[in-house]
Amino acid sequence: MNIYLIGFMGVGKSTVAKELSKRLDYQLIDTDDEIEEREQASISDIFKSRGEEYFRGLERELIRELSSKDNLIVSCGGGIIKCDENIRLMRESGKVILLEASPETIYERVKDNDSRPLLQANPAIEGIKRLLNEREEYYNKAYTDKVDAARPVQMVVDDIIRSVH
Ligand code: S3P
Repeated sequence: MNIYLIGFMGVGKSTVAKELSKRLDYQLIDTDDEIEEREQASISDIFKSRGEEYFRGLERELIRELSSKDNLIVSCGGGIIKCDENIRLMRESGKVILLEASPETIYERVKDNDSRPLLQANPAIEGIKRLLNEREEYYNKAYTDKVDAARPVQMVVDDIIRSVH
């Protein structure tokens, strides 16, 4: 079984995933990091030079690969749930945990970081709310359990461990 962490940009998936992988002794894969490593380019550069569709294709390939493995903690890019095949493969191969936070919390966490191409045009809280709204149905389709991510990391990790055991 794998554990997939999903949720909007800035909810803290990477930080929670690192802690969770230590606590459970599972291997950690961060899909953005893995894609950057394989492409030898930053996410911003991939969006700029190849476009979002190309990036989504890389995400699909990666989920196909990871879903055939076991005992992984996968920290997923915020848009991975936009593809039904990704949702199906993740649910078939493990638990899919949605990390939730309010637009205000998300804004505080992403405002000083320029590594996310989809927030560059909409750096204000209105842009985050709009995209969150658009994404809500996908997140709801994808998750097997959800946790409140606007709390200290250890509490979030405790909840996830309770949920997957
Ligand atoms: C994206 C989220 C980002 C990254 C890319 C697109 C999205 O990952 O994959 O910028 O569509 O929500 P994080 O959720 O890790 O920031």
